[in-house]
Amino acid sequence: MTTQTILITGANRGIGLEYVKQYAESGQQVYATVRDPAKATALQQLAAKHTNIQVLALDVSDVSAIRDLAGQLSALTIDILISNAGTYPDSAFGKTDPQAWLHAFQVNTLTTYYLAEAFLPQLRRANQAKLIAMTSKMGSIEDNGSGGEYIYRSSKTALNMVVKSLALDLREFNIKVAALHPGWVRTDMGGPNGLIDTGTSVRGLRLVIEGLNSAQSGEFIAYDGKRIPW
Ligand SMILES: NC(=O)c1ccc[n+]([C@@H]2O[C@H](COP(=O)([O-])OP(=O)(O)OC[C@H]3O[C@@H](n4cnc5c(N)ncnc54)[C@H](OP(=O)(O)O)[C@@H]3O)[C@@H](O)[C@H]2O)c1
Repeated sequence: MTTQTILITGANRGIGLEYVKQYAESGQQVYATVRDPAKATALQQLAAKHTNIQVLALDVSDVSAIRDLAGQLSALTIDILISNAGTYPDSAFGKTDPQAWLHAFQVNTLTTYYLAEAFLPQLRRANQAKLIAMTSKMGSIEDNGSGGEYIYRSSKTALNMVVKSLALDLREFNIKVAALHPGWVRTDMGGPNGLIDTGTSVRGLRLVIEGLNSAQSGEFIAYDGKRIPW
């Protein structure tokens, strides 16, 4: 099997860290981006064990930093780009902070679009690249049966629309784009009551990514391969 090059954002903990671990252990070349490499202890320990992990700084809420990183990595070919970094500010009805809402849109919604724009040359070079946005079932309008969580829900619903448009716009470059839901996962974000661990989630997500074909580009899919209603 040929080595693939994979770039993952928000790689210092949770699902992002597990993606790095599994892809590195399977022999792929991993570019792991984090807000602060000096504080990313678990990732640095992993990188010390695997020479195929490169740790890079990226705050995804800074569009110019995304563009700078793409410039720094201009010679790369990227087979899989995983826009994983995400934020979940509490936001019940009557308890929403407008600044937190805008910031969550920056991180959860805009990032995938600006990564796609900035890294287009690297993705095109791969000839059949995959751009993965980590979304959430909480962004599904049809699935919303409990209300609340205005900020997180709306930012992921908007992300899903970005994914759909990117899938159509990038089709001519043979880049497949998907909105993937990792399940309810035991991480800092998912909390201790999550239904699955990061290992189970990422094993499933990797299979979905591996099997992603042109017909599925632009779809909203869970870690177990099931389609989620918009
Ligand atoms: N866990 C779940 O049950 C679940 C369910 C559905 C969807 N998801 C989605 O899956 C993805 C990963 O979730 P998770 O559970 O692993 O979350 P997590 O444990 O809270 O980790 C979030 C990651 O995003 C990073 N991040 C946040 N803001 C950032 C910024 N401005 N720039 C760079 N990195 C930033 C964090 O870095 P810092 O350490 O620097 O903050 C951290 O690495 C997210 O997109 C989330 O919405 C998770």
